[in-house]
Amino acid sequence: MNTSSQIPAKQIIHVSGPAELLDMPSEYQELVKRQLMAHTEGELSGADDYVKLFYFLTDDPDEKKICCQLALDELEHYKRAAKILLDIGIDTSFMISQGLEERAFYATEAVKSCKNWAERALISFLVEDAVIDVLEEMTESSYQPIADMCPQVIKEEKLHVGHGFRITREMCRSEEGHHQIQTALERMWPVTLDTFGRSDSERSEQYITYGLRIRTYKDARERFARRARLKLEALGLNVPSDEANRKFL
Ligand SMILES: [Fe+2]
Ligand SMILES: [Fe+2]
Repeated sequence: MNTSSQIPAKQIIHVSGPAELLDMPSEYQELVKRQLMAHTEGELSGADDYVKLFYFLTDDPDEKKICCQLALDELEHYKRAAKILLDIGIDTSFMISQGLEERAFYATEAVKSCKNWAERALISFLVEDAVIDVLEEMTESSYQPIADMCPQVIKEEKLHVGHGFRITREMCRSEEGHHQIQTALERMWPVTLDTFGRSDSERSEQYITYGLRIRTYKDARERFARRARLKLEALGLNVPSDEANRKFL
């Protein structure tokens, strides 16, 4: 526990739970809340993506079933994160009745719309994988309840990404499917890279200072882009430039 009001060096911060959180500088408390609110909302949007968007984009009963199953995972992830917030006095139940468009913490196109099955494939293959990168940083969070939450969530997210990859790979086998994935990639690549946040964000540095993240938004994005680009190119896809059509850099 650190009771100093000064910014502590990140390596010495360890906050075991809600009681110790109250002893931390208000800036730390706000960052923990902010990070958790975004994550919590993102999980709920993930559940909605599966059953409000993806479900209606397929006629395959097995794929519909998978949409429902993975939505259950996302709801469970929401509940885990919501519990951590409730333990520090923040009730997120209002999010349940919000529509995708109303959710403001995780304000990215990546979770708000999906036009076709090819986009559905890439949302799981790319966007959910980007989420894993962030969660992996959060497994080392200075706020212990966050660190404890992540491993199980990552385990399940990897299955979601794996399914997205399999759909993508399967579609890429036919000329028409490949074309559909390529077209979807033109839209989903910049949207995926945007999910990491603004490179000039002040909060990005603060998260690192307080041991709540490991990499800056910019570094995390570039690291993800390098690895994802290789996987997409291996499927014969042409990956757009990392700067093209970005909402913000
Ligand atoms: Fe999730
Ligand atoms: Fe997921």
